Amino acid sequence: MRVGVLTGGGDCPGLNAVIRSVVRKGAQEYAWTFTGFRDGWSGVLNDLAMPLDVAAVRGILPLGGTILGSSRTNPLRAEDGLDRVRDTLNAHGIDALVVIGGEDTLGVAKALSEQGVRLIGVPKTIDNDVGGTDYTFGFDTAVNIATEAIDRLHTTAESHRRTLVVEVMGRHSGWIALHAGVAGGANAILIPEREFDVDQVCAWVESRFRINYAPIVVVAEGATPLTGQMVVKDESRDEFGHVRLSGIGDWLAQEIAIRTGKDARTTVLGHIQRGGTPSAYDRWLATRFGLHAVAGIKDGAFGTMVGLRSTEIVRVPLAEALRTPKRVPAELYREFGVFFGS
Ligand code: F6P
Repeated sequence: MRVGVLTGGGDCPGLNAVIRSVVRKGAQEYAWTFTGFRDGWSGVLNDLAMPLDVAAVRGILPLGGTILGSSRTNPLRAEDGLDRVRDTLNAHGIDALVVIGGEDTLGVAKALSEQGVRLIGVPKTIDNDVGGTDYTFGFDTAVNIATEAIDRLHTTAESHRRTLVVEVMGRHSGWIALHAGVAGGANAILIPEREFDVDQVCAWVESRFRINYAPIVVVAEGATPLTGQMVVKDESRDEFGHVRLSGIGDWLAQEIAIRTGKDARTTVLGHIQRGGTPSAYDRWLATRFGLHAVAGIKDGAFGTMVGLRSTEIVRVPLAEALRTPKRVPAELYREFGVFFGS
């Protein structure tokens, strides 16, 4: 059996751990051979392949990024995309693909699987917003990075008695904002799932100042004010139609400064949340996903994605997993209301 492996979409810590796990299990237990496709779907579309064997995956477990490279290429938007994908897979004698990606990359996987391409999906993203799994790997690392940043921002905010707004990633969902905000003791947490009221945010800021502490406001990049439009950097879109986000943090700090008359600054964590070595938990989860992806291929469970349910790894049909992104439930968000403004 020859298996192709690719990593697509925004990178995240733990991708290399999956690649290693897939290759080690497949090569050592079943004597499978592997081909790596470079830069996500671009590698399959444009026939950019590299050999992948046990020697090639030695030492990559703690490495951030992906040895295969990644991109946001959508092969289904390219002319003759499906035929080109099929040609590349045939040229390399690929029997099955392991597709490691978020909702966009896995969306392509679903469409190709419906056209008869034999593949298994592995969900990744720091945003933790893929359905069909309790957690995606990369999320834990990102939350730890954001939490450490918030811890550091508390001390400098106190020294200057100013508001610090921390903008974290999270296009459709506020998982990073909520987890890091709670872990870091933020005084307001704003998420895409719930439009925020700037007056309310300013009231939380004022009340935090009244008890003689400086406010930390954590905002997800996809959060929007009540009656406004999402604040974006520019209107350019990627191949999956997404605008580039980031800008809400600066906008909010300005609003807070104007409305409260007190200094407010912004820290945008950006890609720092995606870089560097994966946490122990992400290495663990990525390794398990890789092992179970191989088991899925062995069983012929094509068109499915591995996912985590409680402590079990399950197989979820791609169509079911991708039906709706996983969002922060309103009642979970409300649990932390007692910490806002105090
Ligand atoms: O992978 C998802 C994500 O982390 C989003 O939260 C963010 O909007 C996006 O990646 C940014 O990725 P890039 O800058 O690579 O386009």
